[in-house]
Amino acid sequence: MKFILILPMIVAVSSARKLDEKFAWKELDFAWPSEEAKQEAIRSGKYIESHNLPLGLDIWQDKLFITVPRWKSGVASSLNYVKLSELERSPVLYPYPCWEAHDLPHDVPSTEGDANYGGGRTDAKGAEKVENILEKNNETIVSTFRIRIDECDRLWVMDSGLADILGSPKQLAPNSIAIFDLNTNKLIRRFIIPADQVKEDSFFANIIVDTQTSHCGDAFAYLPDLGSYAVVVYDFKNDHSYRVKHNFFHFDPLQGDLTVAGVNFQWTDGVFGMALGKPTNEHGDRTVYFHALASTKEFSVPNTVLKNETFATSNDAYFAYTLLGDRGPKSQSTAEHYDDKTDVIFYTQINRDAVGCWNINKPFTPENQGLVDSDSDALVFPNDLKVDNDGTLYVLSDRMPLFIYGTLKSEYNYRILTGKTSEIITGTPCA
Ligand SMILES: *[C@@H]1O[C@H](CO)[C@@H](O)[C@H](O)[C@H]1NC(C)=O
Ligand SMILES: *[C@@H]1O[C@H](CO)[C@@H](O)[C@H](O)[C@H]1NC(C)=O
Repeated sequence: MKFILILPMIVAVSSARKLDEKFAWKELDFAWPSEEAKQEAIRSGKYIESHNLPLGLDIWQDKLFITVPRWKSGVASSLNYVKLSELERSPVLYPYPCWEAHDLPHDVPSTEGDANYGGGRTDAKGAEKVENILEKNNETIVSTFRIRIDECDRLWVMDSGLADILGSPKQLAPNSIAIFDLNTNKLIRRFIIPADQVKEDSFFANIIVDTQTSHCGDAFAYLPDLGSYAVVVYDFKNDHSYRVKHNFFHFDPLQGDLTVAGVNFQWTDGVFGMALGKPTNEHGDRTVYFHALASTKEFSVPNTVLKNETFATSNDAYFAYTLLGDRGPKSQSTAEHYDDKTDVIFYTQINRDAVGCWNINKPFTPENQGLVDSDSDALVFPNDLKVDNDGTLYVLSDRMPLFIYGTLKSEYNYRILTGKTSEIITGTPCA
């Protein structure tokens, strides 16, 4: 009898978590101007606690930015930060850059057509019919999934402009990029993606910024279109964008069946995770790694291809893309991020409640994929991850499929986990 009891304990020890919990929340709360303001927001339906799900993150100095997409109504603020020096386990979120930027008009009629949701896809039909609320205040952030902080202290926000995605979708503004100067908290650029680069099933939920400290005016942003299988490239210097297509941006029809926390669903999300390698020369030439969400394969393309509009949009570009390999069964991934201190790409593993890694100097094979951590409680749906300048990995997990298809229990559903990249790869093929 005793012998039988010991066995599960050994298993538990050998799979001990390697990432540390930094913050955890049962529900998100915000730094309201006053208790009256909070109560008024609850009364009017502008704040429905359980509808606020954290999704994306990035780190700048003492600020840990956290996005809260407007999946449902009652999202208090879509772009926020908490202070890393905060000692509370569940700190309140500060809207960024200010509360006013998140004050959306009430009672807007829903966008015509279905919100054809499937893993983050919606139907953007009717977008033009709706007033563009950015004309009133260009700092407004309607709904953002992921953000990126670059080497030049700028925060790049991919704003889908779409509110109440799962309820009565409202396209309050066109898809756009908002860029803030983190030192002044001022909006320095708002770029509206031209309508002809947004297709019926387009969905932009990620943004990757390619620049260098010495050339801040020279920056490109890559916007994976997971719903319509393309990448929109934004050229900051010329304030211009173009749409790049490739077969490798599509999903794998055999890898769209997912089960997370006992919830089974099928997604068709294409190109999504993207990581930039180390610059190899003074021009900033580097490799862009990418994968579709509903896929277990990894691909790459030189950034010189994406940055060259003539070439990238021509048929000649087909063979400039490379298949690196397959991660193995059940290894579908949302986000990926390259850490130049260890030469390792870290990525989420949504079908395994895990974070994986791959050392870019090794062949891309299932054997060379490391398991940094896996946990059927703390890592249920690792949604986003980033590595900061000091070599610390930050992972956000949020049980999103339960939020969308089921109901979250009253427990710690949302977490930020951290670990030193040099330490967490010890004992894995990534070391
Ligand atoms: C935002 O709007 C203000 C006021 O109309 C204007 O002065 C400013 O240049 C705009 N900023 C951007 C980045 O478009
Ligand atoms: C872009 O690609 C074209 C070929 O399509 C090439 O002729 C041109 O030199 C490239 N431009 C740059 C800046 O590399």
